[in-house]
Amino acid sequence: MTSSLANTEKRYLFIKTYGCQMNVYDSNRMTDILTPLGFEITEDLEKADLAIYNTCHIREKASEKLYSDLGRVKPFKKKKIENGKDMLIAVAGCTAQAEGGEVMRRAPYVDMVFGPQSYQNLPEMIARAMREKETRDNPALRGAGILNVDFPTQPKFDDLPEMNKVEGASAFLSIQEGCDKFCHFCVVPYTRGAEYSRPVKSVMDDARRLSDLGVKEVTLLGQNVNAYHGATLDGSGEIPLGQLIQEIAEFDQFEIIRYITSHPNDVTQDLIEAHRDVKKLSPYLHLPVQSGSNRILKAMNRKHTRNEYFKLIDQFRDARPDIAFSSDFIIGFPGESDQDHRDTLDLIRHVGYAQAYSFKYSMRPGTPAASSEFQIEEAVKVQRLSEVQALLDEQKMAFNQKCVGQEMTVLFERKARHEGQLSGRSPYMQSVYVQANERLINQVAPVRIVGCGNNSLTGEVIITDN
Ligand code: 5AD
Ligand code: SF4
Repeated sequence: MTSSLANTEKRYLFIKTYGCQMNVYDSNRMTDILTPLGFEITEDLEKADLAIYNTCHIREKASEKLYSDLGRVKPFKKKKIENGKDMLIAVAGCTAQAEGGEVMRRAPYVDMVFGPQSYQNLPEMIARAMREKETRDNPALRGAGILNVDFPTQPKFDDLPEMNKVEGASAFLSIQEGCDKFCHFCVVPYTRGAEYSRPVKSVMDDARRLSDLGVKEVTLLGQNVNAYHGATLDGSGEIPLGQLIQEIAEFDQFEIIRYITSHPNDVTQDLIEAHRDVKKLSPYLHLPVQSGSNRILKAMNRKHTRNEYFKLIDQFRDARPDIAFSSDFIIGFPGESDQDHRDTLDLIRHVGYAQAYSFKYSMRPGTPAASSEFQIEEAVKVQRLSEVQALLDEQKMAFNQKCVGQEMTVLFERKARHEGQLSGRSPYMQSVYVQANERLINQVAPVRIVGCGNNSLTGEVIITDN
């Protein structure tokens, strides 16, 4: 890699993304920053001049994956250096933020470590890394040592380039970041920092660009997306998520609007009304509850009860009868008794989910629950998780069966494995397989669902006259 960043000589960027949609968004934005510097995406590590690992810290397994991937990239870097070239290795994202020093200690050949609030400075960091490396005797073993895990006072969004490229017809739009909730199991408030809502103007500017780029499905992103309270265009106040959705829906180009992830305590009337009034808003809501036990909800610092959650579910169903729900569950949180576990199963039965994610509780250093003396034995967690997952699987299958015979709007994404088949997504995020012409890729079309499996639907395109 040459040390000039101004040139447009072709270089290759390998970027691996772990974890949530926010990381997918961040990886796309890092690519936007690096494209003007001549970087082109490669999936071939051997070719990479810069390898970025955009990490997740939410559970222990997610972090451990990073170290095994770093072990794998090391020989590629060594070989490149032996051939008179170079490779920069960067660790980004939440593991970088939470344990940047540890990353450098365990993998000293890493050149740059930076958190989710610092990647807007990538060009400077790359330049610094290259200067630093010139001073190293053995750059294959000792990286540039750039560590950037500050939370800047100026939001990074102000420094990001315009969104100028999208893959397909679906795009993420980050509107909110960070979290002030401090659930007792969660690292997010420490890795992503304090809650921040982007002003309406900058969100709408991005929305306009996505519309101009031909995006048909936009997903509004935030760790606590329904805590959104962005400053209005004239600076006179703030608007909540429901109102923002109404504004975004004004773009004719957008046919499907989604948002993720919500917290029950931040559900407001305007959001429920948006589900009632905005046809483009998908009738699908990911509303994590984590546990069905009031005792555990309290211990988790979730600050709501199961009945309050049920009430919200009812309100959404009244506003939009075809709405379906998804959730996250943490199984085996410290102190969880058999009765608490039964309460979770009971909550799941009561709500009836289209699908949901469930995880064994994972101790995260620095969070309050990690120091609890009432940790649950692994075998108990495994058993309870399998019961929860069996019930959720049953519900998913029942939901898929209920979809058969229905007409749904589907965004087609790609060719499927079977000849002549396309795959797309239903409003409820199920994969839908349809025999259809390739011209439908990146188009939205009405589909009649004719069959289902555990994880997908099959359908037929409904031919309309117009
Ligand atoms: N252990 C297990 N699951 C966790 N989550 C967050 N922290 C932990 C943890 N320490 C889950 C929550 C959250 C989802 C993104 O990850 O269910 O909603
Ligand atoms: Fe983590 Fe709780 Fe914030 Fe969600 S609301 S990001 S679970 S602290």
